[in-house]
This record gives sequence, C-alpha cells and structure tokens, in this order.
Amino acid sequence: MSDQVKHRIARLVGELNEHSYRYYVLGAPAVSDEEFDRLMGELEELESGHPDLVPPDSPTRRVGSDLSGTFPAVRHDVPMLSLDNTYSEADLIEFDARLRRELPGEDLVYLAELKVDGVALSLTYENGLLVRGVTRGDGLQGEEITPNVRTIRSIPLRLREPVERCEVRGEVYLTRENFEAINREREEREEPLFANPRNTAAGSLKIQDPRLVADRNLSFFAHGLLTAEPQHDRHSESLDRLEKLGFSVNSERRCCNSTDDIVAYWRMWDGDRESLSYDIDGIVVKLDALAQQARLGATAKSPRWAFAFKFSAERVRTRLSKISLQVGRTGVVTPVAELEPVLLAGSTVSRATLHNAEELERKDIRQGDTVVLEKGGDVIPKVVSVVESERPADARTFDFPETCPVCDANLVKDESEVAIRCVNSGCAAQLKGRIRHFASRTAMDIEGLGHALVDQFVEKELIRDAGDLYSLDVEKVAELERMAETSARNLMNGLERSKARPFHNVLFALGIRHVGATVARTLADHFGSIDRLREASAEEIEAIHEIGGAIAESVHAFLKDENNAAVIDKLKKAGLTLKGEKQSDAGPGPLDGKTVVVTGSLTRWGRQQAQDAVRAAGGKPTSSVSKKTDLVVAGENAGSKLEKARELEIEILDEDGFARLIGVA
Ligand code: IVH
Repeated sequence: MSDQVKHRIARLVGELNEHSYRYYVLGAPAVSDEEFDRLMGELEELESGHPDLVPPDSPTRRVGSDLSGTFPAVRHDVPMLSLDNTYSEADLIEFDARLRRELPGEDLVYLAELKVDGVALSLTYENGLLVRGVTRGDGLQGEEITPNVRTIRSIPLRLREPVERCEVRGEVYLTRENFEAINREREEREEPLFANPRNTAAGSLKIQDPRLVADRNLSFFAHGLLTAEPQHDRHSESLDRLEKLGFSVNSERRCCNSTDDIVAYWRMWDGDRESLSYDIDGIVVKLDALAQQARLGATAKSPRWAFAFKFSAERVRTRLSKISLQVGRTGVVTPVAELEPVLLAGSTVSRATLHNAEELERKDIRQGDTVVLEKGGDVIPKVVSVVESERPADARTFDFPETCPVCDANLVKDESEVAIRCVNSGCAAQLKGRIRHFASRTAMDIEGLGHALVDQFVEKELIRDAGDLYSLDVEKVAELERMAETSARNLMNGLERSKARPFHNVLFALGIRHVGATVARTLADHFGSIDRLREASAEEIEAIHEIGGAIAESVHAFLKDENNAAVIDKLKKAGLTLKGEKQSDAGPGPLDGKTVVVTGSLTRWGRQQAQDAVRAAGGKPTSSVSKKTDLVVAGENAGSKLEKARELEIEILDEDGFARLIGVA
C-alpha cells in the first residue's frame, strides 16, 4: 500500500514540477489551470495522509511557514562581487583596450547580457536538490532566505540533470505587471505604495512569512554557474547548461566580437527596454572565455573581466535655490545643492551633492539657476547641467570660503587637488560624522544613538571621540534634550550590545580612510587582531592581495597616530572585540565546532548579534533544529524549535546560561 502511494506521489511530483517548469520557465504551459489544480489537490491529499513520504522537491513544499524572526548570516564560498559601471561609450572602449593590453594578441569574445534591475541571489544545490538561497549582503556574507526562495516558481527545487554540487547566481525580479498588481491591492487597502519593482522584490525576499512572499510572484533569471570542476570553457556554455538544468536564463544574450557590436546591442536595448515585461537598467558585458576570466581575476570589488554599461538615467529640471556646505567625517567640505523639491525616479529630491569646487566651476552652477537632475541606477541624484537660457539676472555664483563653516579652521586643498578639507581633526562637524559612522548599522550598529543625540554629545562636549561613548553614564544622558531615563537606558544597552560586534565591524567603524566594509574584513581576516595590525608595516599590509598602496599607507598612518591609538585603547578597555574569530590567539572558543540555534527573543542581543556572538565563540549558527544541532539557546517565547530540541534531547540553555558559557555574563 505504502509503496503504491509512494509511487503515485513521486509521479505526481514529477508531473507537477514538469508543468511548473513549462509554465514558469518556458512560458509554454502544457495543461490547463484546472488540470494543474486537480493534480495538486490529489498530491496534497496523499501527502497529508503520509507526511513521511513527502519528497524534498514536492511542489507542496514551496510554501512553508516556519520562519523565526531573522535570517541567519551565511558566508559566501566565493564572494559575490559587483560590477564596474559606466554610462559612456568612451569607458567601454577603454575597458576593451585594457583587456587587449592585458591579454596581448588573444582573441576576445564578449557575451552581452541584459542587466536586469532586481536583487542578486545565490542558490546552492546538493545532489540535485535546492538546499540554500542566500542574498548578496555585503558581498562576503549574506542572509539565508531559503524558505522565501523556494516560493519562486522559476527556481527549480530539483535540477533536471544530476549535479553533485553547484552554486547558481542570478537576479530575482518582479515583472512590471505583478508590481502594478501589488500596488493596486495596496492602494485598495490604503497601504503605502512601493516605489519600483526592484525595491519591492528586495523587500519581498525579507518578509518573515513565505506565504506572503509566494503571493508576490517573484521571478528569477540565472546568470552564473559555479561548480567545483568547471565543465565548460565559456560563460555562454554555462548559461546553456543552466537552461538544461531547468533555470530561466535571459534569452536576449548576444555574442559580441567588437566594441561596435556591444554599442549596437546597448543602443538597441536603450530604445527597446519598454518592450520587455521587466525593468533593465543597462547591459552587462562579460569576457566569454573562462580561462581568460581566470587570468584577469578580480579586485576586492569587481571582476576585471566584466563591465556594466548602464542606460542613461531619468532626468528632471528644478530650481537650485541655494548652495550650502557640508563637512564630512574626514574633513572634506562638500558643496550641496538645496533644491526645490521634485519627484525623480520614484522619490522626492530636495538636495544633491555638487561634489567639489571644481565641479561647480566647470558646470558654472549658480544659486538661483534651473538645473537638470539625474538619478542613475544608484539612488544618489546628481546635478548634470545648468539650463543657461533660464538663468535669472540675480543668479549668484558661489565663492568657496577660506575657513571651515563649522569651526573656522583653515581650509586646504587636498593632495588630490580636488577636495577641500578642514584641517582641524577636532572640528565638531568631523567629530559628529565620525561618531555617526561609528554607530551606523554596518559598523557598530548602536541602537538608540540617533543623529540628534550625537549632535548633543558633541556640542555639550560630553564626548571627544568614539571611545568616550563607553564611559557615558545614564544620569548625564537622561538630562539631555528629548531624553529620559528609558531612552538613556536604551542607549546604554545598545552600547553594551555593540561590544559583541565582530572585529571587522570595529575596524570598519574606526573610519580609517579608504577602509570600507570589505577591506576591513580582509584586514581582520588576515591579521586577526588589532595588535597584530598595529605592529604591521605598510609593506606588510600592502602584501595582501586585495590591498593597494594607498590603503596600506592610510591604515598604517592611522594606527601610528597618537590620538587614534588613544581611542583604540579606550575601546579595548571598554571591552570591544578587537580580535578576529578566526585567528584569535585566545585558543579555541567555548562553542568550537558546535552548531547552535538561537530561538525566541533575547534581551542582551538582537538575533543577528546573537549569531555574531555564537560565531565569535567558535560556533556555527544555523536556523533549524535537527539531529546535527549541538545547542539551542532559547529566549522568551521560544516556540516549535524549543519543542523540537526537547524531543531530540538537545542541550538547551536560557539566555543567562548562554551568556555565562560565552563569558559575557
Ligand atoms: S554578472 C561579478 N549578469 O548587477 C559580477 N549581473 O553590480 C556578477 N545583474 O549584483 C554579476 N543582471 O545582481 C551579472 N546579466 C547579469 C546581471 C547582473 C543584473 C546584477 C547582479 C549584480 C549587479 C552588478
């Protein structure tokens, strides 16, 4: 009996998946909706009577319900890089010329693809089955959103040909039609509307309930295949293979032998983009031969063998009423255009950076002018040009002052001869900028420390650097404007929690020039501790593959500076994490090699931070409880995962027990 049921289930799963593939990937359904629903109904009934016989790739498993509040962080085996961008033909020609210089005498064949305006996603398959879907995140580490990914019908749960292990990368997107339908429904429910299909797709992937994600009808185009042993010589062949494996691969790809071919393809799609059912924001040009790709390699940010050639962006006109100055955390003084608010590509714009004095002069931008604004694929609006014919008689040129608008110190021209800098590192504006950066989400993620509070701390001279944050006391903070006991305690908790932030976040938070999140991680991984990094010479730092001379110099000089050294010492004393998890010389952590699930809500840590704490103690955080789980940390309102842990007799700790175990109680 059970054998018969098993067969029937297997057959129904096979048929339904085939129909789904035809419908969602090939766009050529073979059966009516009613027939599909009938087969699905039969499968659901059989499975509900035999839950032990439900196969992993059953279409009934596309929509689950078991999400716990956050998505676990997962490190990418191979970083998910971004692409160098350009809007100009000249850059494209330079790209081609550079590749020809680096691969002298070789034939270069490019593959041009559409740049689908969606969200990057990585899919891992093991023994043919989808096991993981992870967002790009910061490129090195993303969020595991597998239950949501399974709802995307054009993503196969099982590959159509056997592959032991592979990673597929591509773009999750929303068709314009689906986007509009979602907004129509939201309008009816008087919910705020989404700005565009890309934001909607990104937001949808982060919803905590896969049933709601399924309703969004997301789609997926695969554009990259990674296997342990590449079975192809060319990128175009791996795309063909992806199609055979059951993925939807954009069919508009084209082989190009020259820059002329590429420009023609780009022009054609710039004109024709509206004919597609989804948004594209340009084309991607990739060197087709994988051996050539491998020889060129990548920088920390992007591969040297690929390039995004964007379409020119949406433009509008508005009046520039005034030019003001902004002093950044590194002292760079930037002119900012104050604009009459105008709607551009889905959002209202009232300010735009004017970059530097030279740009002002070159574009002859005056206060009172009508200007043309543009928003590219990136969200930052820029002033493209001035409409001279509409210049009023009283338009005023902007004279750059000699002294800092905030602290009156002298302004000097930077070594690059472009930026103008305030030389006073004690300048209140710089300090505010540094503290904001320190507290920001990608840095120390200090909850309760908003801009207004930072302003007050600096203006009332309660802090002179980031290190002082950790010696603030509740009473003093509670006395400040718009603060009270509760908000002050909130900040204290936020500061306390930030101490568990991993070393690379602290390194990034220091705000060293040229050290972004990626470089910070590279340095943290390589040196393992601030002490080791402090001892390193500029040459030693530069010897790391992804680190160039300017970065190395900047890091070295920063750490040798007495004031910075004093700040680092304060942070050390306060108990921040200044050692990496990997090369910690403290020996093995209390959770070494253990798989840990955190469930329910904790008071000391947010979910992400608890996972960071697990990692810092040598453990591996995962999301679901199984026989492989070594420890479950259960907070308030822990539900089914706690039950399961009890069932499987897995060790369970409450929050205090966990804190003691990892030594932070
Ligand atoms: S290849 C190493 N191909 O554009 C770069 N990317 O900044 C691998 N994108 O995040 C990307 N369409 O998500 C590639 N046909 C295409 C693409 C594409 C859209 C996205 C991708 C990436 C971003 C590049």
